[in-house]
Amino acid sequence: IPVEPFDYVVFGGNGDLAARKLLPALYHRDRDGQIPDAARIIGASRTPLSDEDYRAFAREALAAHVEPEDLVEPAVARFLDRLFYRHVDARSGEGWAELKSCLDETGTTRIRAFYMAVAPSLFGAFAQKVTEFGLADEKTRVVVEKPVGRDLESAKALNAEIARHFREDQVFRIDHYLGKETVQNLMALRFANALYEPVWNANHIDHVQITVAEEVGLEGRAGYYDTAGALRDMVQNHIVQLMCLVALEPPSDFGDNALRDEKLKILRSLNPITAANVETLTVRGQYKSGASNGHAVKSYLDDLGEPESQTETFVAIKAEINNWRWAGVPFYLRTGKRLSQRMSEIVITFRKPPHNIFAHVAGEVQQNQLVLRLQPDEGMKQYLMIKDPGPGGMRLRQIPLDMTFAQSFKVRNPDAYERLLLDVIRGNQTLFMRRDEVEAAWDWIDPILKAWDEKNQKPQGYTSGTWGPSSSIALIERDGRTWHEPD
Ligand code: BG6
Repeated sequence: IPVEPFDYVVFGGNGDLAARKLLPALYHRDRDGQIPDAARIIGASRTPLSDEDYRAFAREALAAHVEPEDLVEPAVARFLDRLFYRHVDARSGEGWAELKSCLDETGTTRIRAFYMAVAPSLFGAFAQKVTEFGLADEKTRVVVEKPVGRDLESAKALNAEIARHFREDQVFRIDHYLGKETVQNLMALRFANALYEPVWNANHIDHVQITVAEEVGLEGRAGYYDTAGALRDMVQNHIVQLMCLVALEPPSDFGDNALRDEKLKILRSLNPITAANVETLTVRGQYKSGASNGHAVKSYLDDLGEPESQTETFVAIKAEINNWRWAGVPFYLRTGKRLSQRMSEIVITFRKPPHNIFAHVAGEVQQNQLVLRLQPDEGMKQYLMIKDPGPGGMRLRQIPLDMTFAQSFKVRNPDAYERLLLDVIRGNQTLFMRRDEVEAAWDWIDPILKAWDEKNQKPQGYTSGTWGPSSSIALIERDGRTWHEPD
């Protein structure tokens, strides 16, 4: 769907997120012809830069973060021509009148989006300036990056502060996992086919696993990460969102609120984890030194440069959803840094056939698994049992039906931000988090944090380059199951 001409203002426009994600994403969409001629991207931050300086910054960012074969002239030149820069200070009035006159050059009819690629402590100050200097109108949108708060109370305060300046339908809270191809494809798989939905419940599904494993460590974000930890950084948002999309009831349509209403119901049905059960349902870990990708890597504490920290870099949780569809079906969740490989996937394991007529033939009847791979190679595989082809008699074997996108469709897999950035302009909030959703997710996370504290449950060390602490394996093996081994 083509979008209307817009002005995208990126606060923190010369920062890391803009360089790594936002500018490359907008470039790709521009190259694909989805950005109208008149649209502009205006970087804004405290650093004084000229338009030309900003274009040089963007050129470098594209060179570093776009595949060389996608970096082609005249597309790059055309994209750089759209870029402007104004320096503004969120804590004072400096620069705001200049930003306003820059925006006013194109009149007030076009859509304005303000992207908060800055520390959350500054969201309120930026929102305040945008309204105080008359930069916003009815059609204005504001994009908020995570983290939205560090617990329920701070999330509520932040949401209330934003709500003082913008209506909820103007606020786009990004969880970039919702922009990933496989995640959207999960919705297509579930609701554009009649095949899966009848078996998508506790009668047919044995359990669900969601793994988001990273090889990277702190990546220079020690200051933020040590105050957050894996539960806040990854589980509260990305993993909980994935769980909701697997578990939700069919929404009446793919519109903004129908989907988010259903996610909210799942969040509110999550089995509470408290001091009474936290030790059996959760595992915390922290990486020690080891090897990643063939290179020796330091421990978390050495990366941090501190002698001590109780921040977890790994979490595993056995979650349960207390509703009719999912009663008794565990959702095993795990995420961590410095794990064996970068790999994110959702694995749905179906129940065994009720009776095995092949008890006397070679090859065991294995449980069907549906593997939705988010990264590195996005795609889906449905594992099925078949007869081993050939004259060797009745032998059973498991094979995957492979629906790997890039291969099947021969297209570039767009980065999650590409879709989301333009959805903001389209005014489509389906893949963004609503205020009540964020707060409901914290409502589940807060008691876990509190219980860890109360029970003095400290992170267990794990060697970098492994799959986390051994207690994570025990968490699932106790139930007679194992973590899915990636191919
Ligand atoms: C971010 C987290 O939200 O997601 C990072 O703050 C993490 O710690 C990143 O590395 C992972 O995103 P992706 O898309 O690389 O899986």
